[in-house]
Amino acid sequence: MNYKRFAPVLLVLSVLALYNSAKAQDLIDKKVDSVLSKMTLAEKVGQMNQYNGDWEATGPVTKAVGDKLGEIKQGRVGAVLNIMGSAHTKMFQDAAMQSRLKIPLLFGQDVIHGYRITFPIPLAEACSWDIDAIERAERIAATEASASGINWTFSPMVDIARDPRWGRVMEGAGEDPYLGSLIAAARVHGFQGRGLGNIDAIMACAKHFAAYGAAIGGRDYNSVDISMHTLWEVYLPPFKAAAEAGAATFMNSFNDLNGTPATGNSYLQREVLKKIWNFKGFVVSDWGSIGEMIPHGYAKDNYQAAEIAVKAGNDMDMESRSYIDNLEKLVNDGKVSVALLDESVRRILRKKFEMGLFDDPYRYINPAREKSMLNRPQSQEEAKSMAQKSIVLLKNNNQLLPLSKELKTVALIGPLGKAKKEQKGFWSLDIEPNEDIPSVFESLQKAAPKTQFVYQYGCNIDDQSHAGFAAAVEAAKKADVVVMAMGEAPDMTGEAKSKANIHLPGVQEELIKAIVETGKPVVVLLMAGRPMIFNWTADNANAILYTWWLGSQGGNAIADVIYGAYNPSGKLPITFPRTEGQIPIYYNHLNTGRPAASDKDVFYKSAYIDLPNSPRYAFGFGLSYTSFDYIDDGVFYSTTPIKDNETLKISFTLKNTGKYAGEETVQLYIRDLVSQPLRPVKELKDFKKVFLQPGESRQVTFTISRDMLYFYNDNLQYVTQPGDFQVMIGSASDDIRLKRTFELTN
Ligand code: GLC
Repeated sequence: MNYKRFAPVLLVLSVLALYNSAKAQDLIDKKVDSVLSKMTLAEKVGQMNQYNGDWEATGPVTKAVGDKLGEIKQGRVGAVLNIMGSAHTKMFQDAAMQSRLKIPLLFGQDVIHGYRITFPIPLAEACSWDIDAIERAERIAATEASASGINWTFSPMVDIARDPRWGRVMEGAGEDPYLGSLIAAARVHGFQGRGLGNIDAIMACAKHFAAYGAAIGGRDYNSVDISMHTLWEVYLPPFKAAAEAGAATFMNSFNDLNGTPATGNSYLQREVLKKIWNFKGFVVSDWGSIGEMIPHGYAKDNYQAAEIAVKAGNDMDMESRSYIDNLEKLVNDGKVSVALLDESVRRILRKKFEMGLFDDPYRYINPAREKSMLNRPQSQEEAKSMAQKSIVLLKNNNQLLPLSKELKTVALIGPLGKAKKEQKGFWSLDIEPNEDIPSVFESLQKAAPKTQFVYQYGCNIDDQSHAGFAAAVEAAKKADVVVMAMGEAPDMTGEAKSKANIHLPGVQEELIKAIVETGKPVVVLLMAGRPMIFNWTADNANAILYTWWLGSQGGNAIADVIYGAYNPSGKLPITFPRTEGQIPIYYNHLNTGRPAASDKDVFYKSAYIDLPNSPRYAFGFGLSYTSFDYIDDGVFYSTTPIKDNETLKISFTLKNTGKYAGEETVQLYIRDLVSQPLRPVKELKDFKKVFLQPGESRQVTFTISRDMLYFYNDNLQYVTQPGDFQVMIGSASDDIRLKRTFELTN
């Protein structure tokens, strides 16, 4: 069909849409100004103040205040957090409706990986490389949360992380700016859906702005000291993507960045976010972070901290009480202008209007809707599908997996074999009953009813007791196959959960060794929120599945993978080190003047004398039950170099050469061979997920365009430089199958 004839109509429609949106914005701005004109200084300050509910604190609870509901009635509170469900949110909104101007409250919540239904932790979801599925997961979370009185989630966390010692690595999308940016935008679109004001949309909040994941030593809350070039090249891209996706809010971060706390950092909040990126939403501090500029040594007291923060562009104060206690005095002392407060209050009120809260403060508070929208079967199915895609197959010697359902006896050994709600991981909401969450043990039994499963805990997660070893070894000896459910405790990752030692905890590797030494085939499941170190297991177990924390459907998804109902397709979004001494280790590093061509090079080895240069598992790595060939027969590309806005096509044939249908995530990396400043040895620039039946082949084509080649030069200008580039196509960052070079001529 020739769509060209519709072009004029489409053009008119899009102009109309733009006109309507601008008109709608103008209308809202007029309403905001009307409310603002009626507000007293105290009420303006109130809108910039966010309190935690009286329970479920997610930070150090600041001094108890007498009567939060009373303060809300006085118009001293603009938002609350950790208040969930129709009943509780109604109680607090009722209080706001008794205030003089009846300005509705915003209800914020850490809906990080699901609300009533828990999805895999974000780092696990990133292993799916399935951008649409990630968006669908957040859409479900938003649908559930918005039916429970919540209209704002403190998510997505988009911090790039290269250090698995950092506990919050579990909350992001790993180490890569390109994958992290796609996922950031998908999460924002998922949460905000068809746009704020739709009943199932909640405001997203891109956090933690910025570079929180670069904390020195991987220690949470620690200082960050990086170049401006690294800030722009590595840590800012996912935030830019979130802003471009329309994130309604941003949250700044606890860390200082090159000597300035992010909360008081006007370069980040005013110059980058509000000026360069033209961000129209509002910025909320992280829990207490305004007041924390005092222990930082950046402010002498809350009075000065409040002045610094509001001038730096921090619009709302989460739980430090610096604003509510000091902003009026700062205005009356002439230190801060009312205009500065008005700018922040406008940003906050605009979002309340966009959310429809002025029209109906109770629109998200509806017990009937809450009952009907939570825990829907199709949502559970989506959670199971996401959990399946989040599992990464690290090893499968002699095709041990998938297991046969005809096996007579399987021993399930390990401290996490019967774990139920522990599978949800950190930042999960304790809403669903524990019994609703199937353990691995229960899921395996359901999947293979002919098999007898014998469970032994073997050892605890993190102590030195060997008391369970003997019984576990005995159970293994009597079994055909052993499945071991090992890993961290769910609260060993998350906020304030950084670890100096990220080996498999306790005596777990000793237990794995004792079981492997029985000579039985051993499948090891590793549950964690971070890359752990488990070298003996990696070298000696027959099969390893990295299952992270998979949420409500974790047990079922693991059983589906073990028995082949789902062929694992996950790819690592973060590098796994061989030991802590390698950290930070990431794939998109510079080449140095003495690159190690192999682990044997001595003087030409920018690494250690006592450890190979390579990681244990590389970014982008993940196996399948089948195998894929990248056939160079059809690699063709226009020999003419790229100039102006031309593009370059690169094609090849992918073939499923194994006996299982499966999905391969084909990765495209590019290297700028000569540039000033230096560019990484490779950067992920595109990927394609290709599902093939056994024996099936398909042509895969990538389009290389100039916009893949931009980078920040020494003056932080976003540029391209002519010259030669290498394009690499592969199954992992360290498993490149096809290479070509091309030239950019201008
Ligand atoms: C916490 C976290 C932040 C979270 C907030 C509210 O300290 O740093 O990510 O959204 O407080 O719970």
